[in-house]
Amino acid sequence: MKITTDKEDILLANEAKRAMEKAYAPYSGFHVGAALLTREGKVYTGCNIENASYPATCCAERTAIFKAVSEGEKYFSKIAIAGGKNGNITSICYPCGICRQVMSEFFGKDSEILLINEKDEVYSYKLCELLPYSFEM
Ligand code: THU
Repeated sequence: MKITTDKEDILLANEAKRAMEKAYAPYSGFHVGAALLTREGKVYTGCNIENASYPATCCAERTAIFKAVSEGEKYFSKIAIAGGKNGNITSICYPCGICRQVMSEFFGKDSEILLINEKDEVYSYKLCELLPYSFEM
């Protein structure tokens, strides 16, 4: 893990924060935004989308990944994630286990997961740090 000030990383982090504003989270009040970068340099964003039947909820990361894959994209290099109660970032929002596993399908082990904290600092983790042993078939 390292703090990044790379221009591309900051731009992606800002896209994730913007995507947070689209969160549909009437049940938890926890708003999450994600922005991924394809290897060709295209950005796809996503927000969490909750449902009255709670398990039907889709996380922001998977919304972004599924949007991109459904548009024919399969190779991603980075994903930025921002989240917080009522849309206020009070700490880093780590991706849940299901999203880490979904990331492992389309992101390389050395790809970057960018997480934004309350001071607007961007922490860069490698996927293999957050999910050392993914399920594979
Ligand atoms: N959530 C995400 O969008 N991403 C995660 O990695 C963890 C959790 C959402 C799901 C739900 O709408 C809310 O945060 C509270 O769990």
